[in-house]
Amino acid sequence: MTEAVHTRRVFSGIKPSGGLTLGNYLGAIKRFVDMQGQGFETIYCVVDMHAITVWQNPAELKHATRELTAAYLASGIDPEQSILFNQSQVAAHAELGWIFNCVARVGWMDRMTQFKEKAGKNAEKQSLGLYAYPALMAADILLYHATHVPVGDDQKQHVELTRDIAQKFNNDFGVDFFPITEPVIEGPAMRVMNLRDGTKKMSKSGDSDMERINMTDDADTIAKKFRKAKTDPEPLPDSLDGLKDRPEARNLVEIYAGLNNMTAESVIAEYTGAQWGQFKPALADLAVAKLSPISARMAELMNDPAEIDRLLGRGAERAREIAEPILAKTYDIVGFVRG
Ligand code: AMP
Ligand code: TRP
Repeated sequence: MTEAVHTRRVFSGIKPSGGLTLGNYLGAIKRFVDMQGQGFETIYCVVDMHAITVWQNPAELKHATRELTAAYLASGIDPEQSILFNQSQVAAHAELGWIFNCVARVGWMDRMTQFKEKAGKNAEKQSLGLYAYPALMAADILLYHATHVPVGDDQKQHVELTRDIAQKFNNDFGVDFFPITEPVIEGPAMRVMNLRDGTKKMSKSGDSDMERINMTDDADTIAKKFRKAKTDPEPLPDSLDGLKDRPEARNLVEIYAGLNNMTAESVIAEYTGAQWGQFKPALADLAVAKLSPISARMAELMNDPAEIDRLLGRGAERAREIAEPILAKTYDIVGFVRG
């Protein structure tokens, strides 16, 4: 059998559920922007079908879909260079998702740590969609034969599952059809932590707004949140080793590095021995300088929702051009008759 040669193609997605945090920006959006024009075809998705794995108020879902699209655009996703669309407009995601539900094994799903974390003791009360969602995520990626998937650290296990699904499909049907996708998880700030507890991930849904930076926060709020961020009494160390067992300190250093396109090592080199009273304002200034133009542009874009919808519709058309032939071929491989 000849090895299939796959174009270098990036696919990634974010759920439109609630606000966007600095974690989404550094762990995902900023890196999506950076991968444009680097020799990849880039496809970025607002994964609205994933959002409804937990209840979403319909009006809020529409708002969050447009706001996430505005965030992508304001951060530098170019809708000409990249394909930008929302998942539910390309039916092939659901169709391939079903096939992958029949490829993935229940035992594989049982190992997904994110489901266990989200479901907690209430697993029986969760939607079947939340349990099955990694198979839909695999469909999102493989529907485009994507070779590279930039994500934050929390999604690594799901991209590995995508590889298992591709491999099992290829083996079961004796084909070399789906590529074995690479997760791209590199650089600082792949796991941005909660500002009040450095052992927890920064997330949209947390008890207190003080524990996260939202992409729409104004300058004063950003400054206040960093000023009040938990730290320890030690100054900044002279090497990365000195951040060991200091999760809050490490987090602030990594955020600085991520925002300023530098390594954590070079941040340490610049701020060796600095007190938090010096570092935190510098970090707040940097965050405001990077995020303010983005939130201002997002607000402008949100004034014209019809234009956002038009862009998503156009993106979906382009996405279908790639997805539909791949789905048709998959149906043929599986043995579905088409008249
Ligand atoms: P979600 O908001 O859960 O749909 O996540 C969308 C993307 O943002 C995924 O690639 C996540 O890995 C990334 N992401 C979310 N929260 C964080 C975080 N605290 N640190 C780094 N990346 C994150
Ligand atoms: N599951 C991802 C998250 O919760 C979002 C997502 C859905 C995704 N489909 C994807 C990410 C495909 C990368 C590629 O963050």
